[in-house]
Amino acid sequence: MLINLVDQDTYAASGPPHEQLRWLREHDPVHQHPGEPGFWAVTRYDDVVHVSRNSELFSSARRLAIFDEVPEDQLALQQLMMLNQDPPEHTRRRSLVNRGFTPRTINALEEHIRTICDDLLDNCSGEVDFVTEVAAPLPLYVICELLGAPVADRDKIFNWSNRMIGADDPDYATSPEEGGAAAMEVYAYANQLAAQRKAAPRDDIVSKLIQPDENGQTLDENEFDLFVLLLVVAGNETTRNAASGGMLALFEHPEQWDRLAADPALARTAADEIVRWVSPVNLFRRTATSDVILGGQRIRENDKVVVFYGSANRDASVFTDPETFDIGRDPNPHIGFGGGGAHFCLGNHLAKLELRILFEQLAIRFPKLRQTGEARRLRSNFINGIKSLPVRLT
Ligand code: HEM
Repeated sequence: MLINLVDQDTYAASGPPHEQLRWLREHDPVHQHPGEPGFWAVTRYDDVVHVSRNSELFSSARRLAIFDEVPEDQLALQQLMMLNQDPPEHTRRRSLVNRGFTPRTINALEEHIRTICDDLLDNCSGEVDFVTEVAAPLPLYVICELLGAPVADRDKIFNWSNRMIGADDPDYATSPEEGGAAAMEVYAYANQLAAQRKAAPRDDIVSKLIQPDENGQTLDENEFDLFVLLLVVAGNETTRNAASGGMLALFEHPEQWDRLAADPALARTAADEIVRWVSPVNLFRRTATSDVILGGQRIRENDKVVVFYGSANRDASVFTDPETFDIGRDPNPHIGFGGGGAHFCLGNHLAKLELRILFEQLAIRFPKLRQTGEARRLRSNFINGIKSLPVRLT
């Protein structure tokens, strides 16, 4: 079976190629991608977890781009980001930023997030685009709240994040130069924010992260600015697409929407099921640090090892009825936030809280919510995204 897992147009037309991924899980789980020597697609749950938890063999730091190599000038900057580091460099930074994202710190934000969500929904009525009016602003406003950024700066931050993501989609397409320029603007903005909080600390994450921890360790200025940059990229697009992909899944499974409308408390398990079902991050790359056997295949040093989260999340050896979207699924050991290694999503509690509040509020306020037009998908093999989803809020 000839399988192309990277064709952007396939993703734009119909989303991740689930049929082909299922075939691979069953017949060729560590798949040498045609026409891409040294590119391996890892599709089974256990193998994705193994790769994610074994950073000595599967590095996040050796080259980064999933398909092409990153030009030298961008490489240096990217390698300074936590996402692109291996232990021990990664460990120090991660433990410094973890303090801003503990379940306790995040749960304390619940009322703020509820207010942001209520305000957004108060301003929506009748026919709207769910993506632009609800799914996109919610995570953005929450990140602004975390950073203590003024309301007046929200549009600016939104625009930077869109330009940086620079998806391979003609509607968003930005040149690498434009994306780089936006990144520099976020970097400068973070610098300014840190200086303001140093002079006058507040009760926000910026103030927390620029203070030394209990061992007297702190992020230096450069590390802090890069972290803000990572937050703006990692926290926006992912949650936006979980929300819009979740909404679409509920439209496609109306009996699940009816369940939620009848019992909005189901939003708690629905949040996890949405992340499993949508898997907003399709894949991530690691690089083999030496020759290694994985799933019976001989991987060579420096080969690209690409883990497919959306495929792992439908692995029948782990999930009962994996092709069933069930908002009450419990337990739900999905790996939509990563396979549990050093890089496991820092924002997972936050994302789940946002999704729970959003879907609970939608079910309470708009039990007859309906889709009124076709969903348009993002042209990207990296993010499982939706660009527009017309709905009627009733
Ligand atoms: C890392 C998914 C929301 C911040 C990751 C990874 C995935 C992921 C797959 C990589 C895991 C790995 O390599 O093992 C998601 C999904 C989200 C989401 C599906 C929403 C549904 C967020 C939010 C934030 C965030 C809201 C922050 C506000 C990060 C950061 C990392 C990360 C900083 C890098 C962690 C590290 O390198 O140690 N996320 N994410 N994410 N995520 Fe998320």
